Amino acid sequence: MEKTFVIIKPDAMERRLMGEIISIYEKKGLRISTLKITKPSLELARRHYQEHKDKPFFDELTAYLSRSELCAMIVEGKNAVAAVRKINGGTNPLEADAGTIRGRFGLSKTENSIHSSDSQEHAEEEIKLWFPEFQAD
Ligand code: CMP
Repeated sequence: MEKTFVIIKPDAMERRLMGEIISIYEKKGLRISTLKITKPSLELARRHYQEHKDKPFFDELTAYLSRSELCAMIVEGKNAVAAVRKINGGTNPLEADAGTIRGRFGLSKTENSIHSSDSQEHAEEEIKLWFPEFQAD
């Protein structure tokens, strides 16, 4: 089964939305195969968002991701990368479809409640970064 990597971000965790968000994926037939609640270091947040290091919002984004606990997950299912991104909605909550996670719960482009990998290649890299103990099958 295809795997993707998902983060329930600090703004959603702080508002106790973890269970509701996990339930949305499960009801779409996806499986949470690994899950960890953790407050990452700024260093880990910076490595995660490495590809955005030259963007003007990089410092704000990485400070936000490391400000409190988040939930990092491996989500499995048919076409998991694309399926999860569809459920999540567009980056900007104001423009995301109203039924998506970002459309329903996101507060701003930074505090947009959820992250997921944009390709299978990035999913593999992000799973290695966040779950170094994980052995791919
Ligand atoms: P995510 O899908 O986790 O990956 C990159 C993140 O950068 C994205 O979610 C947004 O939270 C953030 N982002 C993208 N564009 C902007 C922006 N213009 N201002 C602030 N944050 C942004």
